[in-house]
Amino acid sequence: MHTRRAVIGATLGSAVALSLAESWLPSGRQLVTEARAATGVPPRPRHDGGRLHEWSFVAQERDVHLLGEDKPASKIWSYAETLMPVRRVRIGDTIRAHLVNRLPEHTSIHWHGVRVPNAMDGVPFVTQPPVLPGESFLYELTPPDTGAFFFHPHCNEAGQVGRGLTGILIVEGDEQVAADADIVMAVKDWRLDPDGRWLDFETSDGASRAGTFGTVRAVNGSATLKALVPAHGDVRIRVLNLDSTRQMQLGVDGADAALIATDGNAIEPIALDRLQHGAWRLAPAMRVDLLVRSPAAGRAFTVYDYFGARPYALGRFSAVASSRHERPFDPPSLYGSTVPRANLQSAERLTFEFSAAPGSPAALTAELPDDHPLKPVLLDSLCVGDRTFWAINKQTWPASGHHKLPPPLARLKAGQSYVFELVNATPHPHPIHLHGHTFEVLSASRQKLPRFLADTVLVQPRERIEIAFVAAPGNWMFHCHVLEHMETGMMGWLSVT
Ligand code: C2O
Ligand code: CU
Repeated sequence: MHTRRAVIGATLGSAVALSLAESWLPSGRQLVTEARAATGVPPRPRHDGGRLHEWSFVAQERDVHLLGEDKPASKIWSYAETLMPVRRVRIGDTIRAHLVNRLPEHTSIHWHGVRVPNAMDGVPFVTQPPVLPGESFLYELTPPDTGAFFFHPHCNEAGQVGRGLTGILIVEGDEQVAADADIVMAVKDWRLDPDGRWLDFETSDGASRAGTFGTVRAVNGSATLKALVPAHGDVRIRVLNLDSTRQMQLGVDGADAALIATDGNAIEPIALDRLQHGAWRLAPAMRVDLLVRSPAAGRAFTVYDYFGARPYALGRFSAVASSRHERPFDPPSLYGSTVPRANLQSAERLTFEFSAAPGSPAALTAELPDDHPLKPVLLDSLCVGDRTFWAINKQTWPASGHHKLPPPLARLKAGQSYVFELVNATPHPHPIHLHGHTFEVLSASRQKLPRFLADTVLVQPRERIEIAFVAAPGNWMFHCHVLEHMETGMMGWLSVT
């Protein structure tokens, strides 16, 4: 039996010059739908036991023509033969990912946004030993939430992710009404010279300010995504900001569009033009799902980043004839997540101030004995910021950080509700990420935002934001996701017992 999506997938697949690789399309399984609740988003129906996915991720250097086929290749680092692999699973499925490290330095996999057991969180020296060159590590997880996630290493992130070491995880099963197409747009720039060689991923100038920008903009690896979509169809577009630094002001031109999920979590659909400035601000590590009603055959719509002086076309979507007809755009909501909601009455309140570092130049600790197996690794200056620019509550992630944990920023009780007030005392924006949790963004002092669920929230300069969540047991990192900021001090951890 063909599902409608599979048919469209096949139609799209046969079209010329289609830029969608197989893995960028959904698996096409159909969902049992349930009546929509009167208000808000309806809960996701129960699912039966899922499948087991066994993946082998061999992290190694590979040659990829990032500047174009006619230009010299670049030495990328990736988990698979394809750059930034996209893996799709269904809610309830279990993943067994076997990481093999063929890089010259240690690495790990952090499953960003996935509420994993702490031991699977992939933070070297905090939740697991670093995976040294030649070693391997088995990650096993059953993602409890649907949505668009990504995975990446958690040490020398600017250098490893900078070379491309990241991947995308889609957990399907949240659609009440199947979309007509489902497209991933992973935004990540490259810092390359004209010969395809890497430029420094970190600069003091960038790290101490808004970050070091790439020189070549890219979506799914190349300049602008081009795709064919069914005319009058509902196109689900999952935009992931996987850049180390770049912020985007995400909007759509040429079609009706609604925001339907934030960091993979359903939100009551909001027409994009009802948002402040008609766009959604997407800082590093943040994701949104858009539902776009494609125009008539022969016409096109464009997903833009309106942030810079000139809008940048991230994706151009051309409508091709389909069996869909023109009709009013009334985007159905996705099923809501099953994330535990904080009890605001009983919640404990804590404040975290993100500021410049009180000015201690970082130094390598000489405390380890010479024959300590990690010494060469550390002396390699991995996980070691040789400059410290930033702090959380005046505490910086120390130079000796990952192998000698600083005290936690806070000790929390598992199962207890918390409201965190995040205060940005700097002139730079910071997307703040909490590992292992999905939180609700309750209020923002400088942005006009709906209430939404997220794992990363952008705190604008001088802004105060309140988030609420129920603490889960473990040692969880809490940091800015501008990679150079986290590596130069703006990182800490929470102990939840
Ligand atoms: Cu993508 Cu510590 O995070
Ligand atoms: Cu930051």
